[in-house]
Amino acid sequence: MAAQQPCILAIESSCDDTSAGVIRVGKILSNVIASQAIHAKYGGIVPEVASRLHQENITLVVDDALKKAGISLKELDAIACTTGPGLMGSLTVGLSFAKGMALSLGIPFIAVNHMRAHVLSHFIDDPKPAFPFLCLTVSGGHTQIVLVKSFDEMEVVGQTLDDAAGEAFDKSGKILGLPYPAGPLIDKLAKEGTPNIPFPIPQIDKLDFSFSGLKTAILYYIRDHQKEDPDFIKKNLADICASIQHTIVEILARKISFAADMYDIREIGIAGGVAANSGLRNRLLELSKKNDWNVYFPAMQYCTDNAGMIAIAAHYQFLEGRFSGLDIAPYVRGN
Ligand code: KG4
Ligand code: ZN
Repeated sequence: MAAQQPCILAIESSCDDTSAGVIRVGKILSNVIASQAIHAKYGGIVPEVASRLHQENITLVVDDALKKAGISLKELDAIACTTGPGLMGSLTVGLSFAKGMALSLGIPFIAVNHMRAHVLSHFIDDPKPAFPFLCLTVSGGHTQIVLVKSFDEMEVVGQTLDDAAGEAFDKSGKILGLPYPAGPLIDKLAKEGTPNIPFPIPQIDKLDFSFSGLKTAILYYIRDHQKEDPDFIKKNLADICASIQHTIVEILARKISFAADMYDIREIGIAGGVAANSGLRNRLLELSKKNDWNVYFPAMQYCTDNAGMIAIAAHYQFLEGRFSGLDIAPYVRGN
């Protein structure tokens, strides 16, 4: 085994994207992602459908990742896979496949936590944050502020009490009749509108978040205006989207500012699918100028769920000798 120069195959299947990637000596050689567009038809992820599609996709995705990387099975030093948090059926598909590969090749298995991997996606490309830094992880399933002291030492210092930020985008979109996932579409429409509707910003203690009140506020606002004009949404869609995005971004921006002051940290990372949002990016760049922060965003392909982030997390676990037995089970929640 090349102890300091590991070549690792990583697999991610925690939600609705089947992904595999290869990392060698800390450099990502491939990051293949097969998305499952079918969930748009149902307005959200159907877990049973997701796990069946993972099963259909996984062999091809892994094969493609190895081919794109130009790596053969005998060159691999370890197999890594997300063990949680995520959907039980989806996780089980990737994990069984990964364990099977590790067993048949006689190489170590590395269990990776999905949330920690989102944080470590900042170490794939340059520039990289310096420790300690604060990471705002915002996705369809999670909203967390993490105090990151090293590759291994991470503390969740704030999190959502109800919906995640991505979920707030998606549920708001559903009220407006937009297809799932609505986040990218709201982002696009918001660019043509003005944030002129004052949706409330919840006052939540310390570093925690809440987004469920926003959903209710939008629902009532739309219901009241549709009574007067059935075409209200159509006529005002861009402004409504701009206002929703403005509110979600403001909730996130206030909490990360509070955390930066509280811990006196000026290194700020943003990870997860919502890190792709242009309004959030602009707001954080504004704050970085005002407060003298260094703000870091991973490349888009490493923001949404992907095996590249599992691979980089596995790379550091490998260097520290943090391997797992093949008896490890998937888990739905936990950091
Ligand atoms: O990290 P991710 O791919 O999967 C989870 O782990 O959940 O995040 C998906 C979420 C969805 O809620 C989607 O609407 C949101 O990220 N998203 C966005 C944007 N791109 C993806 N939300 C707002 N603006 C975007 N540009
Ligand atoms: Zn994720």
